[in-house]
Amino acid sequence: MRVLGIETSCDETAAAIVERDEGDKAHILSNIVWSQIEDHIPYGGVVPEIAARAHVEILDGLVKRALEEANTGLQDIDAIAATGGPGLIGGLIVGLMTAKALALAANKPFIAVNHLEGHALTAKLTNNLDYPYLLLLVSGGHTQVILVKGLGDYQRLGTTIDDALGEAFDKTAKLLGLPYPGGPIIEKLAAQGDNQRIELPRPLKGEKRLDFSFSGLKTAVRQIALEMAPLSDKDIADIAACFELAVTDTLSDRVERSLAVFKNEYPDKEASLVVAGGVASNKDIRNCLQQLCDAHGFRFIAPPIGLCTDNAAMIAYAGLQHFIHGDYSSFDIAPRSRWPLDEQSSPLIGAGRRGAKA
Ligand code: KG4
Ligand code: ZN
Repeated sequence: MRVLGIETSCDETAAAIVERDEGDKAHILSNIVWSQIEDHIPYGGVVPEIAARAHVEILDGLVKRALEEANTGLQDIDAIAATGGPGLIGGLIVGLMTAKALALAANKPFIAVNHLEGHALTAKLTNNLDYPYLLLLVSGGHTQVILVKGLGDYQRLGTTIDDALGEAFDKTAKLLGLPYPGGPIIEKLAAQGDNQRIELPRPLKGEKRLDFSFSGLKTAVRQIALEMAPLSDKDIADIAACFELAVTDTLSDRVERSLAVFKNEYPDKEASLVVAGGVASNKDIRNCLQQLCDAHGFRFIAPPIGLCTDNAAMIAYAGLQHFIHGDYSSFDIAPRSRWPLDEQSSPLIGAGRRGAKA
């Protein structure tokens, strides 16, 4: 059983083939990701029109390459899956229309996949993992803890009430005169800085609710940067180090509460925490989550970085799960800029404002 997956929800154009073998195990046959980041760097963030145009230009060739690398043809594919949302509408239209056209031409089922579900299920592709488990999704557009109970059964425990964590890294970098995307450069500079030099706030730390908040942290950095201006290279590295310490400290406190909720709900089950999203590339963040899991008897699962960030293998894998259950999409399905995994949970004021990035 083979599924072609297509991902175009933000600034990565991606195509992949995932196969399920006779023993019920899934394998990635090909996984091609084309990052458009160079096109967006001059603007300090993702420009939707540029993203959509770039998807149109390269998606056909990428699908062809994914089929070639998997040593397969369209006739040997069982279903075609594409991200249906959440994301930037222009990009989503490109991926969905391409997938629908291929499915119609080759007479295959078409499946529109929720991008967040792709992230949520990735760890089942890379690791031997049973439901239920906890997912911490930390990307440029989302900061959520989701209880993954089964395929299509998701409960959001906590989410950001303002900025997403990746967004906080990006905005902090901008304040410090550093380029987009901010995460990798802040991580690099933080390793050289003094994380004890400035006291930064830990938003919501100690509060009972399971949500996150990062905008106060960014505002505090702005204040300090103004007071210290002009900033030397050492000042910037010290601020980056203090910012990262505040982030890991806050994240540990917030996630710890969700671990307790899981243990309370499933006292007899194996407990696992999975991390996904671009921010999961950060080593300090991975280490702090590992320590937290060790302290609470949780298994910590961090898929390889290339599968934590946006890719099409996760879309093909989620599509495969739906295909197995005969759960196909209609050809008249429309892209959704907002598509919460947990449709029951109401959006929080200000959360996911950028909305486009997942
Ligand atoms: O999941 P992703 O690749 O794209 C979407 O948001 O859809 O995540 C990108 C985000 C950016 O905000 C970027 O600054 C952040 O992930 N990021 C990092 C690191 N690498 C990427 N944040 C902290 N540390 C990193 N090493
Ligand atoms: Zn994503």
